[in-house]
Amino acid sequence: MWKKMFGGSVPQTAWVQAPLYDRIDPGRLPGHVAIIMDGNGRWAKGKGLIRTAGHTAGVNALKQVLKVAIDLRIQALTVYAFSTENWKRPHAEVDFLMKLFSEYLEREINEMDEDNVRLQFIGRIDELSTELCRQAKSAQKRTEHNTGVRFNVAMNYGGQDELIRAMHSIAAEVADGRLAADSIDETILENHLDTAGLPPVDLVIRTSGDLRLSNFLLWQTAYAEFWFTKTNWPDFTPACFVQALEDFGRRDRRFGGLKNK
Ligand code: FPP
Repeated sequence: MWKKMFGGSVPQTAWVQAPLYDRIDPGRLPGHVAIIMDGNGRWAKGKGLIRTAGHTAGVNALKQVLKVAIDLRIQALTVYAFSTENWKRPHAEVDFLMKLFSEYLEREINEMDEDNVRLQFIGRIDELSTELCRQAKSAQKRTEHNTGVRFNVAMNYGGQDELIRAMHSIAAEVADGRLAADSIDETILENHLDTAGLPPVDLVIRTSGDLRLSNFLLWQTAYAEFWFTKTNWPDFTPACFVQALEDFGRRDRRFGGLKNK
């Protein structure tokens, strides 16, 4: 089936992963997958390592998951890298994470560009350090014309904060007469979110056993399917991702209507 999926142009990584992809029905893939990459700290603790070692290992898991999304031509992948609440962590851990994000960008941007990935950041990017913000914007600019996977990294992101920012900008447009208050609808709100132009989230994956959304993509997940695993993020392999996609393909999505089958 994977040969059918890729036609004549099988991506390099797909050859490696091909047997894994055989289990997937290409007609039932999610358009937008959102991932809460949880459990880095627990992974490290379980191995007798310091917490930050878990974050370093988590980068590798992310790289592999992005490759699968590229191979399978998933339209959009959004990952939760740092929430507006994560500033409550010890300074040393926050500093470590910021450095890790910066190194990740520097190291991976060429390959992402070659893979035709369009990288975007969601959240209050302007409040990050000047250097990280510059790097994020330049990576965004560099890949803005790419037509492959839309890879979104949520950094200094909170779903409630995103909705409030959207409301502020809508209110400003109403106040200066550019928008009529009674014309505000779902489309107008969506166009003011950080995710404007992206499809709604079809599938949310959360690793490490907790069963909550943690202020991630509150609007965008209205009809999303949820997939939870006890596996900690650094141990989340392409096979785990494929398992989630396979399970998604078996879900009966009704969007408030009646049974599909
Ligand atoms: C949760 O683990 C993970 C984070 C706070 C996000 C950091 C994610 C990474 C470093 C993966 C790579 C991402 C990028 C963008 C390069 P936790 O610390 O909350 O784990 P715990 O719940 O076990 O303490």
